[in-house]
Amino acid sequence: MRPAIEVRQAARAYRVGETEVVALRGVSLTLHRGEHLAVVGPSGSGKSTLLQLLGGLDRPTAGSVLLDGRDTATLSQAELARIRNRVIGFVFQGFHLQPRASALDNVALPLVYGGVRRAERRRRAADMLDRVGLGHRARHLPGQLSGGEQQRVAVARALVTEPAVLLADEPTGNLDSATGERLLDLLADLNAEHRVALAIVTHDHEVAARARRQIVMRDGRIVSDSRTVSGNGNGNGSDSGNGNGNVSGSGSGSGNAQHATAGPDRSGQGRA
Ligand SMILES: Nc1ncnc2c1ncn2[C@@H]1O[C@H](COP(=O)(O)OP(=O)(O)O)[C@@H](O)[C@H]1O
Ligand SMILES: [Mg+2]
Repeated sequence: MRPAIEVRQAARAYRVGETEVVALRGVSLTLHRGEHLAVVGPSGSGKSTLLQLLGGLDRPTAGSVLLDGRDTATLSQAELARIRNRVIGFVFQGFHLQPRASALDNVALPLVYGGVRRAERRRRAADMLDRVGLGHRARHLPGQLSGGEQQRVAVARALVTEPAVLLADEPTGNLDSATGERLLDLLADLNAEHRVALAIVTHDHEVAARARRQIVMRDGRIVSDSRTVSGNGNGNGSDSGNGNGNVSGSGSGSGNAQHATAGPDRSGQGRA
């Protein structure tokens, strides 16, 4: 099956005045439906930059990113926005909710861009708010909700389009541990039931430990790409790494004994 997202030797440099900051130095990564990936690494290692490329919010300065098989470099802004709307759900580090719109309207917003009719939008947004346990808060404004509730609104908004991939940047960063745990349970359910691919940037060891695949970034590179040995597979046939695979990352130290190193690209294309 075609990967949901494929990143090939992507680099991203930012120009700041006279100097160039290289945030990513040739990163390759393939993400399939049903995967559950955690992205870890020190601050400044390029995690957020990578997530933005994965989501088509940004484009690489070298290399390529394919969303649902389409190279983001060849797409117009409008085409890219359309594919992003269809394929990707994004949960940002801040929640980025519209302060003057109700929880329901915030969740329904991506469906407006997707051209869904109003009645259908409201029905689907209400369903999704129920899924995240916020059906009773539909009419509240973001400012009337707790941090954890706002985060769940952001998750509902990311999922209402039924994306193939959910990308989340430090989704539990602002939550107390119980609320964070519930959010992770929800994401795990969606991953298991709907095979939504999850790619979660996190500092939190527990968040990383729940993922079946973990990549470690350092200084703009992926230094380790590993999968759980005992992983609770969910029927995704491609998710069976057993640790004696083709190491192409140079480093090893994810520090997580549950993860065994395997090749980052299991589609075989990179090895032909
Ligand atoms: N918009 C930007 N302009 C200039 N430099 C940036 C920008 N975004 C990120 N960087 C730099 O790129 C590097 C990687 O940043 P980032 O991807 O945010 O790392 P992380 O999410 O792992 O903390 C850092 O050195 C950061 O300062
Ligand atoms: Mg970041």
